[in-house]
Amino acid sequence: MKKLRVGILGATGSVGHELIQVLAQRDFPIEKLRLYASIRSEGKKQETPFGEITIENADNCDFKELDLAFFAISGGWSKENAEKATKAGCVVVDNSSAFRYEKEIPLVIPEINADVIKDSMIIANPNCTTAIAAIPLYQIYKNFGLKKVIVSTYQATSGAGNGGMAELEEQTKNYLDGKRVENDIFAYPIPFNLIPHIDDFQENAYTKEEMKVTWETRKIFGDESIPISCTAVRIPTMRAHSESIVVETENPVSVDEVKKIFEETKGIVVKDDIENNVYPMPLTATEKYDVEVGRIRQNIVFGKNGLEFFVCGDQILKGAALNAVQIAEVVAKNRFS
Ligand SMILES: NC(=O)c1ccc[n+]([C@@H]2O[C@H](COP(=O)([O-])OP(=O)(O)OC[C@H]3O[C@@H](n4cnc5c(N)ncnc54)[C@H](OP(=O)(O)O)[C@@H]3O)[C@@H](O)[C@H]2O)c1
Repeated sequence: MKKLRVGILGATGSVGHELIQVLAQRDFPIEKLRLYASIRSEGKKQETPFGEITIENADNCDFKELDLAFFAISGGWSKENAEKATKAGCVVVDNSSAFRYEKEIPLVIPEINADVIKDSMIIANPNCTTAIAAIPLYQIYKNFGLKKVIVSTYQATSGAGNGGMAELEEQTKNYLDGKRVENDIFAYPIPFNLIPHIDDFQENAYTKEEMKVTWETRKIFGDESIPISCTAVRIPTMRAHSESIVVETENPVSVDEVKKIFEETKGIVVKDDIENNVYPMPLTATEKYDVEVGRIRQNIVFGKNGLEFFVCGDQILKGAALNAVQIAEVVAKNRFS
């Protein structure tokens, strides 16, 4: 496969940092890796598995010098710069929500819909909560049909980037030292609390984070009729989002059948042995590629057509960097091999 000139825009952030690691771990065909961030980081040296790299100013990026760029800054930055990149012939894999809802731009989880990438110049990476839920949900959708889906989330502070993790760490220290606890990134102090509010409230009283799960699941599965709702909650953990998922299926479903399907699904590790207290947790899902699925049980409301389970996935990996690199692998094969 041809080796590519790759750029990471937002390389000093939580997603950017993981992108560098995942590219190295998966042996992505790289001729030259360049790292970009804000003017604050310009000139700083970063140790990487590809050697020491000097951070460049993202606003000065000359996209003619790149074949492929990962955007991991913000939606606003992506909107302002994507056209510049594609006009210069550089393919963009975008981690923000800027293009996810544009009809002609593919929104991709490669295990589910890699076929929609084709020769697109911009490919959108899904919301982290959606990506983690979609891996097991798609198996249920395919094998049993989905009549209703209700998701409740427990989301780590790193979902809000480096600043979210720093706020949890610093303010927890303040709390324990009896000092004033402040909040800047989150709407309320996060230590020893949880906040049922992620992203902006919408007209229907859901938050945007919650509606992303509805909008994006439908787009990725290619089925606008899927009835899915979500309550998204920020909790004081560092990394890996957890989600409780309740489904009513079209056809009868059994725990044994589903467990077997999950065990055979790439990207899932079944953690379901209640006799030995084995279930998904951020503690075990952090820094893992696979999404943990467990607590699989017949739902007592929907009976034989209902199932309930718990998932936990590293949202900076499967919910961002890993999925983005998997998309790039398809792009490299489609366009550059
Ligand atoms: N964190 C997650 O779990 C997650 C999951 C899925 C998608 N995403 C999306 O991925 C993107 C990055 O998120 P993150 O969590 O990695 O954020 P982050 O940790 O806050 O990092 C932000 C990155 O963007 C750079 N940056 C900020 N303002 C900039 C500007 N004006 N010009 C150029 N560079 C600028 C920062 O550089 P400096 O260090 O120089 O400030 C840093 O490299 C966002 O769109 C986010 O919504 C995040």
